[in-house]
Amino acid sequence: MDLIQLLNQFEADALAAIAAVRDAATLEAVRIEYLGARQGKLRDLQAELGKAGKEERPVLGKRFNEVKGRVSESMEQRKLALDRPTVVATGVDISLPGTSVRLGKRHPLTQTMDEFKEILGRFGFTVADGPEVEDERHNFEALNIPDDHPARDPLDNFYLATAEKAAGGPRLLRSQTSTVQIRVMENSSPPVRVISLGRVYRPDTIDQTHSCMFHQMEGLMVGESVTMSQLKTVLRLFAHAYLGHDVHIRFRPSFFPFTEPSVEVDMSWGEGGKSWLEIGGAGMVDPNVLAAVGYDPDRYTGFAFGMGIERFCMRRHRIPDIRLFYGSDLRFLRQF
Ligand code: DAH
Repeated sequence: MDLIQLLNQFEADALAAIAAVRDAATLEAVRIEYLGARQGKLRDLQAELGKAGKEERPVLGKRFNEVKGRVSESMEQRKLALDRPTVVATGVDISLPGTSVRLGKRHPLTQTMDEFKEILGRFGFTVADGPEVEDERHNFEALNIPDDHPARDPLDNFYLATAEKAAGGPRLLRSQTSTVQIRVMENSSPPVRVISLGRVYRPDTIDQTHSCMFHQMEGLMVGESVTMSQLKTVLRLFAHAYLGHDVHIRFRPSFFPFTEPSVEVDMSWGEGGKSWLEIGGAGMVDPNVLAAVGYDPDRYTGFAFGMGIERFCMRRHRIPDIRLFYGSDLRFLRQF
């Protein structure tokens, strides 16, 4: 056999051996067998090359280098492939990039409520909770909303058709978080400083800005000398913390059965302070309300406020439609 044939044979054998290798240790053994510097088969061929005649040498040398390069390259490729474990026994290529897991997030309204709690917590307000199914005492009577008040119209409330009517009167889904004011005062004595956040229900026609279920935050502070200017300060500080320092706040005279005097609260921020957003109602707790829970109205005063939560969130994030909050559309929810 001449040297060319030997080189061809060497190449074929080496490539076949490399292709058959299944682990790094075997590959190393193959490398030593074929390319090893001391006893490798290639080394023997190189020795043969040295004995070749002058005229043959360029051709043989070229072929030698070619074979050496090809085998080395194949060895390198096989090594890379073995380092990257492609376990195909299960038909799954575990070297493929994984599908990243999307982490869940809190709902934008929950995020807003958590932020509200955090901000008002800094002013000493603790969080109180109340039931969504209420009785008329907490939703109306103790809040100084008399029997004939239009807010009690069955068509404006979700009354429940339950058998409990006999015991404790009719039940309804609460129409405001002011109910929690009563529950807190019934169960504690002044001073009181609480907020309550949660769902309220009204049979409104659903559109871009109305829903028959939405969220409110109620605030209540009662003590021996609580004043209206403190109310305004708390709301202003709250607005600064949530919306930024370019916020303006304004009170407009209004009426609520449970406060006297009562105000409507507007806020304005950004956009050069041009547009006012009506954020809710507030006022000084009506003495009748204090008396209804057994507080002495001659000794204590208090302020209360109630505001819609969706509005803040919509305005901050430029959300055009309140219904987006309740649609569970992940394309919407993932943005927050
Ligand atoms: N409960 C009122 C509403 O749902 C909002 C409100 C107004 C709450 C004045 C208050 C308040 O605590 O003092 O429209």
